[in-house]
Amino acid sequence: MDLLFIEKYKSRVKLKSGQSLSVRPLLPSDEIAYRNFFYKLKEETVYLRFFSKIKVFSRQMAQAHWAELDYRKNITLIGLVRNKGNKEIIAIGTYMESEENRAEVAFVVREDFQGQGIASFLLNQLETIAKDNGFQGFTACVLADNKAMLHVFNKHYPGVQKKYENGTISLVMDFNTKAPIEQF
Ligand SMILES: CC(C)(COP(=O)(O)OP(=O)(O)OC[C@H]1O[C@@H](n2cnc3c(N)ncnc32)[C@H](O)[C@@H]1OP(=O)(O)O)[C@@H](O)C(=O)NCCC(=O)NCCS
Repeated sequence: MDLLFIEKYKSRVKLKSGQSLSVRPLLPSDEIAYRNFFYKLKEETVYLRFFSKIKVFSRQMAQAHWAELDYRKNITLIGLVRNKGNKEIIAIGTYMESEENRAEVAFVVREDFQGQGIASFLLNQLETIAKDNGFQGFTACVLADNKAMLHVFNKHYPGVQKKYENGTISLVMDFNTKAPIEQF
C-alpha cells in the first residue's frame, strides 16, 4: 500500500451544519467501521446504491471489495465525522475502472448527512485522483428516479451523456467537458 499516496488524498471540508468532515482513502483497518456504516443505513438508501435489498454486509463482502482496491484503478474515499470522541464513517465514494480510460463512480451518504454537498465534494476529490491516474472520465449507473444523484452529475458535468434502460440511467461523463465553452 502506498502511504504517500494515501496522505496526498486526505482532505477536510466544513459542512453546512458547521461540522468538520475529513476525507481519506479507505484502509483495510476500516473494515468494521465500513460494515457498520452500511448496517446503519435505511433499506431505501441501500437499494438506491446497490439496486437490491442487501441485508448482510459480511466480512466476505468487505474483503471482496478490499481485494479490488489498488488505490489507482480502484479507490474508495470515506467521509468521517467525530461523534463523542470517535470518528464515524458517514459517506463513501468509490471509483472502479470500468473501461479503458474510464471508471465507474458511485456514492452513498448517510441519510442525516445528505443535502450538505458531501457527494459533490467526494466527486471532485475522486475526479482529481482519477485524473492523476490517467482517466478521462467517469461512468455511472443510477436508478431513473434518483433525482439527487442525477442532479449532482448534471451539475458537475453539463456535457453528460445519458441512456435510459429498464428504469436505470447510464451516464458517461468526460472530465474535459466540465466547463463547457460558450458558443457565440
Ligand atoms: C445521492 C446521494 C449520494 C447524494 O449525496 P449528497 O451528499 O446528499 O449530495 P449533495 O449534497 O452533494 O448534492 C445533492 C444535490 O441534489 C439536490 N437534490 C436532493 N434531492 C433532490 C430531488 N429530489 N430533486 C432534485 N434535486 C435534489 C440537492 O439540492 C443538491 O443539489 P445542490 O448541490 O445544487 O443544492 C445521497 O442522496 C445518497 O446517498 N443516496 C442513496 C444512495 C444513492 O442513491 N447512491 C447513488 C448510486 S450511484
